[in-house]
Amino acid sequence: MSSERSEPTERHVTNSIPHWHSTDSDVQTIVDGEGAYVYDPSGTAYLDFQSQLYCVNAGHSNQRIIDAMSTQLARVPYVSSNKNNDTRTELATRLLSVTPERIDRILFSISGSEANETAVMLAREHTGSPKVLTRWRSYHGATYGTASLTGDTATHTAIEAHAATTGNAKFLPPIPAAFDGATGTELARKAAAHLEFVIRNEGPESIAALLTEIVAGSSGGFTAPPGYFERVRDLCDEYDILLIADEVITGFGRCGEWFGVQTEGIEPDMLTFAKGVTSSYAPLAGVAMSAELADEVEANGLDVGQTFAGHPVSCAAGVAAIDAYEDELLDNARSVAPRLEARLTALEDRFEVVSSVHGRGLLWGVEFADPSTGTSFVDPRVEDISNPVKETVKRAADRGVFFGLGRPGIQLVVAPPLCVDAAEIDEAVDALEAAIDSTF
Ligand SMILES: Cc1ncc(COP(=O)(O)O)c(C=O)c1O
Repeated sequence: MSSERSEPTERHVTNSIPHWHSTDSDVQTIVDGEGAYVYDPSGTAYLDFQSQLYCVNAGHSNQRIIDAMSTQLARVPYVSSNKNNDTRTELATRLLSVTPERIDRILFSISGSEANETAVMLAREHTGSPKVLTRWRSYHGATYGTASLTGDTATHTAIEAHAATTGNAKFLPPIPAAFDGATGTELARKAAAHLEFVIRNEGPESIAALLTEIVAGSSGGFTAPPGYFERVRDLCDEYDILLIADEVITGFGRCGEWFGVQTEGIEPDMLTFAKGVTSSYAPLAGVAMSAELADEVEANGLDVGQTFAGHPVSCAAGVAAIDAYEDELLDNARSVAPRLEARLTALEDRFEVVSSVHGRGLLWGVEFADPSTGTSFVDPRVEDISNPVKETVKRAADRGVFFGLGRPGIQLVVAPPLCVDAAEIDEAVDALEAAIDSTF
C-alpha cells in the first residue's frame, strides 16, 4: 500500500465531512462574520437568517464575548469538570437569575444532546421509571440516547438502524396537522386529552419524564395554543411525571423572553439549554434543575462526567453573552419581532403555496403546500430529492440570505440573530419573496 496520500478531489478539498449534508446539495464555506452577516471566501455577504444552526443569538463577532473569552484564556484556559472554577460559578449564578423560579442549580454539559441525556438520566434515577414521553416531529439531539427521543423520523431512523432504543413513547403536538381543523382552545383541549390518553395507555408509573420543546425549533416554529402547557404541567403533577423543557433553541431571547416557559407561565422541573448560552462562540450546554433534584444529585454523588462540561472559556463567553442579551439584545429582539411577524405572515396572502406561517419572537416557520391538493409538496416519510421548499432555501441563499430547511422539509425556518434590524428583516423577506416567486 502506498504511504502517499491521494490528491484531494474538489469535492473533498476541505478534508472534513460536514454534518447534515446530502449528496445533492453544495456545502458552503464561511470564513467571516459580523452582526447578522456572514461572508464566504470571495467576500460575498449573506444575511444569516438561520443564525447558523439557530444558535448565534448575539450575532457574529460580538466584541464583548470575544474579549471575555480572551481574558479567560489568558488566565486559565481549562479547569477539570470535577473541580470548581470561579467563571463556571459566575455563569451558574447568572443563569439562576434569568431561569424560572423553581430552578435552583446548574449541571453543565457540552452539547444540547448531552444535556438532554443527562436530564433524562436524572429523571429515571429520581422516579425509578424507565420511559420518557416526547413529541412527534420534535428534535432533542442525534446521539444514541437523544435520537430515540427525537420525534423527527429521519433522525431516529438513522440511529435506530444501528442500535435498539428503548424507554420512550411519542405523543402528538398541539398543531393543526395532528388535530383535525381545530384551533385555539379546541386545539389545546384535544391535544391535552390525547396526551392524557398516551400517559394512561403507557402506564403513568412507567413514565419518568415528559421532554418537550416549548416552541418547536428545527421542526418549524410551532407555538402551542394558550392553555396547553398549563394543562401539560397539571398532567405531569397529577401523574407524578417530571417536566423537562428543552430550551436548546428557544432559550436566550429567541422567542421574546429569556426562556419559552416564561411566556407560557409554567415552571419545569428541569430545563436544558445549549446553543444561545454562549451565542455558540464555544460549546456549552447544561441542565438547570429544581432544588429537590439538585439536592438528590448532590447527596448521591455523580459517577459520570464529561471532560469539556462547563469549560471555563465557554463559561466566560456565557457570562458575556448574558450581559449582551440583558443590556441590549433582548430589547432589540422584542422591538423588531413584530416587523418580522408582519412581513412573514403577509406571505400567506401573497403566495398560494404558502399554507401557514407560525412562530414567536425571532423563530418562525413558513410552511408550503400544493394549493390544488392542500397537502405538502413532499412526503416527509420519503426521500425529498426534488423538494421545492429546499429549492426555495437554495434560491434565497443565491440572493444572499440563509434560511433553515425544516425537519421535515415541508417548511423553512427563519431565525435571525437578536441583533437584527428592520432594514435587514426587509432585505431578507424581500429575498425570500423573490425566491418563492422564482421557484413556484
Ligand atoms: C431543541 C433541540 N434540542 C437539542 C438539540 C441538540 O443539540 P446539539 O446539536 O448541541 O447536540 C437541538 C439541536 O439542534 C435542538 O434543536
